[in-house]
Amino acid sequence: MDKIIIEGGVPLEGEVTISGAKNAALPVLSACLLTGGWHTLDNIPNVKDVRTIEEILSNLGVVLEENGQTLKVNSDNLNSYSAPYKLVKTMRASILVLGPLLSRLGKARISLPGGCAIGARPIDLHLKGLSSMGVDINLEHGDVVASTDKLRGANIFFDISTVTGTENLMMAAVKAEGKTTLHNAAEEPEVVDLARMLSQMGARIQGAGTDTITIIGVKELYPVRYAIIPDRIEAGTFLTAAAITKGKVNIKGCNVDHMEAVIEKLLDSGMEIEKRGEGLVAIGHDKIKGVDTKTMPFPGFPTDMQAQFTALMCIANGWSMIRETVFENRFMYVGELKRMGADIEINGSQALVKGKRNLSGAQVMATDLRASASLVLAGLAAKGQTEISRVYHLDRGYQDLDLKLSLLGSKIWREKY
Ligand code: UD1
Repeated sequence: MDKIIIEGGVPLEGEVTISGAKNAALPVLSACLLTGGWHTLDNIPNVKDVRTIEEILSNLGVVLEENGQTLKVNSDNLNSYSAPYKLVKTMRASILVLGPLLSRLGKARISLPGGCAIGARPIDLHLKGLSSMGVDINLEHGDVVASTDKLRGANIFFDISTVTGTENLMMAAVKAEGKTTLHNAAEEPEVVDLARMLSQMGARIQGAGTDTITIIGVKELYPVRYAIIPDRIEAGTFLTAAAITKGKVNIKGCNVDHMEAVIEKLLDSGMEIEKRGEGLVAIGHDKIKGVDTKTMPFPGFPTDMQAQFTALMCIANGWSMIRETVFENRFMYVGELKRMGADIEINGSQALVKGKRNLSGAQVMATDLRASASLVLAGLAAKGQTEISRVYHLDRGYQDLDLKLSLLGSKIWREKY
């Protein structure tokens, strides 16, 4: 296993290019199951979660040809409808193949997903939506076993806004008979990206990016060439890295419209952010202000940036209150930040952070994907050496984070243990 070691205290300086969005790549790759022929996907990030969905697809008989960030995908010879536990257990988003398999084959067997340990994270809303579209669903030996004679359009009301739930139902609906309306749909940019790809394939979708999405089923879909959006969470992490190290970073290839809530909070904390073409110039200042934040579905402050922002607040002037409203157990990394000298008190879904002048390097352990990024940021700011173990969590969703940081001047490297 790898660990990351950081000698903190170096202000970041230079230019970084943002990779494709992991959370867009996973549904877009799953959508290739909907029809045969060669799809060509551009800007696919080289991260572990993408490798996992590729493995799930090739286990179903899909052929994948990789050439750098471009991936060719062909599902002409789909010869299985099941995603087994050994592949699904590490990634909750594996459930994204359920909707497309039902659309294409009328049946699917998917092991109940695992993934980041950040709460119970059920899939009841995916299953409820599918069952109102005419799918029989049973749970057998830890697997969701689903089948249908014909998918029928339905009126679906999500109790909670769910990103992968909205994506799964959208993919189930594109070839269903009649009209499907998704109410209280997720509005995240990754949902819009998938809708754009599906529309290019011939699907009839309206309202993606709002809370009501309407899909009229079509008879046929076609393979396409599609480039996915840049990763707004990676871009937000680099903005925060510039703030926490009081550096100056030119962040290229990001979509500023997807990042407004994060940019606003960082501006409130006292950093400078300037829009420049398809990118941002981020300048961190000595004085960081304590700012309260509450995570919300898009366009609110993303839960996937909560841990990174908390790391910044650890060295702010004064107090800040971070409220997590999306997941119930997303403060596990706080114990690790405390090992670095952070002063944080957790009360249910709230973290009260008392800013300090400095953090100090320590041995810490990553607990989930975004938590790992928060520890890296803390390590960049801390005095002395920080050693982060279990960085396989980081590799699930960040392409070359440590390499990109080292090109910006950080003293960061990997060692085996
Ligand atoms: C996606 C993102 C993840 C991000 C999250 C919230 C991907 C691959 N992952 O995860 O990075 O943190 O959105 O922005 O895109 N819920 C239910 N029942 C369901 C489904 C969800 O109760 O059937 C609850 C969840 O437990 C959670 C909330 O709804 O409390 C939102 O979860 P959801 O949007 O579904 O997250 P994911 O799609 O898994």
